[in-house]
Amino acid sequence: MTTYLVTGGAGFIGSNFVHYMLRHHTDVRIIDLDALTYAGNLENLKDLEDDDRHVFVRGDICDRALIGDLLRGWDPDVIVNFAAESHVDRSITGPEIFVVTNVMGTVNLLQRAKDAWYDAGQKTWRKGKKYIQVSTDEVYGALGAEGYFTEETPLDPHSPYSSSKASADHFVKAFHDTYGMPVCITRCSNNYGPYQFPEKLIPLIIRNASEHMPLPVYGDGMQIRDWLYVEDHCRAIDLVASGGRPGEVYNVGGHNERSNLFIVKEIISRLSARLDDPAICESLIRHVEDRPGHDRRYGIDPEKIRKELGWIPETNFGTGIAKTVDWYLAHRDWTDHVTSGEYLRYYEEMYGERMR
Ligand code: NAD
Ligand code: TYD
Repeated sequence: MTTYLVTGGAGFIGSNFVHYMLRHHTDVRIIDLDALTYAGNLENLKDLEDDDRHVFVRGDICDRALIGDLLRGWDPDVIVNFAAESHVDRSITGPEIFVVTNVMGTVNLLQRAKDAWYDAGQKTWRKGKKYIQVSTDEVYGALGAEGYFTEETPLDPHSPYSSSKASADHFVKAFHDTYGMPVCITRCSNNYGPYQFPEKLIPLIIRNASEHMPLPVYGDGMQIRDWLYVEDHCRAIDLVASGGRPGEVYNVGGHNERSNLFIVKEIISRLSARLDDPAICESLIRHVEDRPGHDRRYGIDPEKIRKELGWIPETNFGTGIAKTVDWYLAHRDWTDHVTSGEYLRYYEEMYGERMR
């Protein structure tokens, strides 16, 4: 039996990871710690209520006592840290919380894990323990038209979000280099799929288009992201947790580079066909003021994880986006719940002025 402490397991990727692990392994127990910020939602875990391999704890990764208690009480073998403030646009309007959660929270997890796993006298770590930091390709900054991010690409973050993630990555590496802590860092490209909060491009466009609302495209819409179906990311993390070499970084991405405008048009055509609704059309697109410091292109070279751990993406974009559109159409109640209240205020603040 392997026990995982998964943080941020009520968010988009974290909840997909929890489902993935429980589906693919019988011998796992997951302690799922989440603060339930605006981005965390217990509805994402509703079907696990009767699964006693999953234990949900509401709490903050910055809470020293709580993390210490969880590590002593459950003695997890692996910590997978998803918990984060994750939205670039929010980081531009309010960077401080990104430092608190993404940097301080990570350092708290590392320090508490060191307390629980490290014998300072012997300078040894307890066997079978591992810390996985779920990071992002955004720490590498932006690419021009050519080339890819490799694990050796120097960190050059531009947004407050990516700066906080890069800072956390440095601390994770420092715990390895200074104390020999068994850590791995994954740096994945943009994910899409079920349970993604509709502040991010794909679910926001699906929601707006299905309600015939304007579709905000920042600047010329020719920025490029390397989109990966979330389940492929979950499988990569599972492989890194079991077989990744301590101290190593693994880039995760599927060579699926698309411009934002392509993504928006793709969603329009699929939704309009699926709902047989010609009013879902390209005239809904609004080019709005660009995001400041907007990275032009991300593109991952996934060769290392392929070679070392045999990972390749299994879901191509056509299949992934069709599944995603279908999921959102089948879960309109989920979208309605998560977009009530705070979301409406956020939407007005982020888009109100830009769309007028
Ligand atoms: P998300 O915003 O959907 O979920 C984040 C989760 O963390 C939420 O459930 C939230 O409640 C929780 N959380 C926030 N602050 C917390 C705290 N202080 N203590 C405990 N829980 C807290 O984010 P996501 O898109 O699922 O991203 C998960 C991780 O993956 C992040 O670390 C992000 O940087 C990384 N990542 C995301 C992408 C992507 O495309 N979404 C790509 C690569 C890497
Ligand atoms: P997002 O989903 O926020 O992910 P990230 O900024 O982490 O890559 O945005 C993906 C791309 O889509 C990014 O280039 C910004 C752009 N975008 C829009 O054009 N309009 C929008 O309303 C949003 C949310 C994003």
